[in-house]
Amino acid sequence: MQAFVLKAYGGPELTSLGQVPVPVPNARQLLIRVRAAGLNPVDFKIRKGDLRIVQRYQLPAVLGNELAGEVVACGGQVHRFHIGDRVFARVAKERMGAFAQFAIVEEDHAAQLPASLDFAAAAAIPLAGLTALQALRDELRVEKGQCIFISGGAGGVGSFAIQIAKHLGAQVATTASPRGEALVRQLGADIVVDYTKEKPMSVLSEFDGAFDLLGGDTLEQAFAIVRPGATVVTVAGIPEPLTASKDLGRGFGLQALFWFASFLLRRHARKHGVHYRYLFMHPSGADLAELARLVDAGVIKVIVDSVYPFENIIDAMAKLESGHAKGKIVVTMPEISSTQK
Ligand SMILES: NC(=O)c1ccc[n+]([C@@H]2O[C@H](COP(=O)([O-])OP(=O)(O)OC[C@H]3O[C@@H](n4cnc5c(N)ncnc54)[C@H](OP(=O)(O)O)[C@@H]3O)[C@@H](O)[C@H]2O)c1
Repeated sequence: MQAFVLKAYGGPELTSLGQVPVPVPNARQLLIRVRAAGLNPVDFKIRKGDLRIVQRYQLPAVLGNELAGEVVACGGQVHRFHIGDRVFARVAKERMGAFAQFAIVEEDHAAQLPASLDFAAAAAIPLAGLTALQALRDELRVEKGQCIFISGGAGGVGSFAIQIAKHLGAQVATTASPRGEALVRQLGADIVVDYTKEKPMSVLSEFDGAFDLLGGDTLEQAFAIVRPGATVVTVAGIPEPLTASKDLGRGFGLQALFWFASFLLRRHARKHGVHYRYLFMHPSGADLAELARLVDAGVIKVIVDSVYPFENIIDAMAKLESGHAKGKIVVTMPEISSTQK
């Protein structure tokens, strides 16, 4: 089958389309004929080798972390899905493989496609949608009437986060450039700070929580924007000890490393009386089913920046890496004949 393969860590020239064998599912897995796959910054971070400390891949490896497609085979212990089901999923972190004509998905990581979406729109949901849901519902525990700051609202995660925070009953402030302002307002943002003109901390204060998608200076400003006792959750800052133990299930070595790496940030947060949390999202079929329900109920709109044919995935990756996508970038797979497999 055709797949987008990473040969060695580094620049885009170390990736290419090539032929690899169709993977074989184990007893608890599904084999999916991929119809569309979503792109995420984690794809180029993995390519560069930035995540080697938490996840090492045996190279060459097929890239890609989320997909939508049809079930074409089920392991013997799979009970919730059948051949022909239309599903979407964030694939297992330790395997990847979504940028291919066929991919393996754990039964527990998949959910039925939202009835109102095609494969391309559904493939845009899993990684960014789950990240936003898990950060706002499980980490920030957003409640009705709270004021929540979300940095970078116009991107893949931000476009879901604004809508989910509004659904949970919050007032939302976000940052966007003039290019993204109309979109974030359409998604429900109550306050939009133009990050090209002013610092969010100069106009926002006493927020009940913050969800940071940018790291760096914006993350540090979030500590000043929220009230003492509040939590700042980031997915783009520096991992802290709980990231290692709770999100990655790792032991003392990685916890200690993250303790040192995040020391200054945690000290900064403590000075403001704020809790600091770096979240690594986790795949979840149950959470995806919840997102599908919200999409079909009209609560969440999926924002797709652009759709590329799979053979142009290098262009799609370059667009993603430019950092200016509005919503998600997706690739769609070509039709296949049995001789191509
Ligand atoms: N830890 C985890 O589990 C996890 C999960 C998902 C994502 N992430 C991370 O979260 C980050 C965001 O991911 P994403 O998919 O949302 O990225 P993305 O879609 O590539 O974000 C692009 C958007 O960010 C906006 N942007 C860029 N600089 C900005 C700034 N200084 N202030 C406000 N907006 C800015 C851009 O708007 P303009 O073009 O208008 O500037 C663009 O719309 C990435 O670092 C990703 O790796 C982590």
